[in-house]
Amino acid sequence: MLLDTLHLDASNPADVQRAATLLAAGKLVAIPTETVYGLAARAFMPSAIEEIFRVKGRPMDNPLIVHCATASDIELVATDIPIVAWRLLERFAPGPLTLVLHRHPRVPSIVSAGLPSVAVRIPALEVTRRLIALAGEPVVAPSANQSGRPSPTRAEHVLEDLGGSIAAILDAGPCAIGIESTVLNLTAEPATIVRPGAIEAADLAEILGYEPPLASHSGTGAPIAPGMKYRHYAPRTPVFLTDSLETIPTGALVLTTAPVESDRIRARLLTRQTLYDEFRRADREQVPAIYVLITPDVRADRALMNRIEKAAVSAQRTDNTPPMC
Ligand code: TXA
Ligand code: MG
Repeated sequence: MLLDTLHLDASNPADVQRAATLLAAGKLVAIPTETVYGLAARAFMPSAIEEIFRVKGRPMDNPLIVHCATASDIELVATDIPIVAWRLLERFAPGPLTLVLHRHPRVPSIVSAGLPSVAVRIPALEVTRRLIALAGEPVVAPSANQSGRPSPTRAEHVLEDLGGSIAAILDAGPCAIGIESTVLNLTAEPATIVRPGAIEAADLAEILGYEPPLASHSGTGAPIAPGMKYRHYAPRTPVFLTDSLETIPTGALVLTTAPVESDRIRARLLTRQTLYDEFRRADREQVPAIYVLITPDVRADRALMNRIEKAAVSAQRTDNTPPMC
């Protein structure tokens, strides 16, 4: 059924209340965050959560992040919370850090795709925390894109993928960070980074006392971060990495952090904030290929590199690879 997706304005308190009322009624609402837009539903309402998996086309074994209005609300969704979690929250919340903790039995298992853990974060935008508080309970919010597409960093990206399938979007303009949160697993020692993001291992070391390693996703059994096995962040346009402008064919599109003087190729600015927007723009403009110029500054940005590499790998995979969030 096609819905008339409401386009609500985050700077208008009446619109924020409207979004909260829709959430409370079990509807899906796209919400702004400092990282990317999320597709929200009440965290304690399994039917609404099923609907999230359905409209995104998301594999059922890929768990969701619960978003809370305050750090203390984490106790609503997690148990046996270690002291270090509180210390990390004191330092980094609200902000782009997601913690994987032990799931409270009151959280429906569909939230965590059946895992005994739960991922939680407190988004930085004040309006988003106000919205969650008004909705009356924490909300799950995966990125508000069709599974496998680049995450949405602008309201129009959400409407492109989910317009007509969700009740509303609360528009707060472009996302300040532009890539997803760092996901840190605290259910085992040492803590491991399940997904690199804006908060770096070195920042986390200030609290943990060590730089958490990247979780390994190799081998057999259930992956630690189920989402990591799926196609990610990928435009339909093939993505290639290159360290030299020479290898780029004439007429191609190049994303680069450095200015390029060339009549031969089209260059656009690469930053965390622009990456997904440029991926989507390339799809709309039907360019034959996207080349990403891997300069030392790009290589040094682990979170950005992670997204670029996943998009490049995804583009080269065949159709039988399942898509992801
Ligand atoms: O910045 C963000 O985190 C955005 C905004 C909307 O908050 N959300 C987001 O959600 O990126 P999503 O669903 O697109 O990605 C969640 C990631 C996936 O890689 C998933 O596998 C992992 O977090 N994850 C969720 N719950 C987990 C759990 N219990 N254990 C391990 N990984 C988990
Ligand atoms: Mg996602």
